[in-house]
Amino acid sequence: MNFQWYPGHMTKAKRQMQEDIKLIDLIIEIVDARIPLSSRNPDIDQLGQNKFRLILMNKSDLADPTATREWTGFFQEKGYFVVALDARSKAGMKQITDTIMEACKEKIERDRKRGIKNRPVRAMVVGIPNVGKSTFINSYAGKAVAKIGNKPGVTKGKQWIRFGKNVELLDTPGILWPKFEDQMVGLRLALIGSIKDEILNTDELSLELIKLLKESYPGVLHARYDVTEEQKETELLFEIAKNRNCVSKGMELDYSKAANLLIDEFRDGTLGRITLERP
Ligand code: G4P
Repeated sequence: MNFQWYPGHMTKAKRQMQEDIKLIDLIIEIVDARIPLSSRNPDIDQLGQNKFRLILMNKSDLADPTATREWTGFFQEKGYFVVALDARSKAGMKQITDTIMEACKEKIERDRKRGIKNRPVRAMVVGIPNVGKSTFINSYAGKAVAKIGNKPGVTKGKQWIRFGKNVELLDTPGILWPKFEDQMVGLRLALIGSIKDEILNTDELSLELIKLLKESYPGVLHARYDVTEEQKETELLFEIAKNRNCVSKGMELDYSKAANLLIDEFRDGTLGRITLERP
């Protein structure tokens, strides 16, 4: 399968981010907990040199909790602060502020030694499209915060959202682009819905999903669709179409319908909490 991206947007987004990063202390990087590595762009490590780092593993409500724990350990070992999150829920946002303060404690300490009191930590959210950047900013901002506009010493036109005395967040997130290092990365991004379905072959995608599920989550397909897992992917899709009565006008079995059903039920969590890659 071929995946496409748009280099023009990439260059502009990157330049914008380089500018924004100069203004902040902490990078809040959002990844999708179902594919924590494939939904990252490691370029951010270079862009964000010398910045404090926090990774939010978002959509953890859809991810396998065991895998999320493994990934948390994996990133922590590399020196990132990590929080697993469902950005749609306002619960857990207090923990984010605590973790931001913890991640930036060196800076806070440095300020204190210099006699600077109450200088807020400045942060920005970054991530590839669709990982939940806007949802997170909205949930985190909630109602009880003041938007602050231009301030002396801060680039014009930037909006900051202020949280109490301690944190200021740039209100527009930085957009990273996925990195298609290999076919599997593209495949995983397609499966979670990060790539427009119009440019994908969903039949093919569903066969890949069946293969992944059979290997890593045996029993899931059987439980949901009453199918035998010990058969070829195409035959299994055929059985799903049959058992779910996926038929087209002429009452013929419609594989594409079955393929879309399967992909949708994976994406919305109906198949259970599933992570597509392990550390
Ligand atoms: P972005 O700014 O990074 O591009 O992502 P955005 O916040 O627009 O979120 C993309 C989609 O992911 C939204 O769904 C949003 O509701 C959903 N989402 C964000 N965080 C979470 C999470 O923690 N768990 C789950 N399950 N979903 C999350 P949408 O289909 O585009 O819109 P809608 O379903 O909200 O109408």
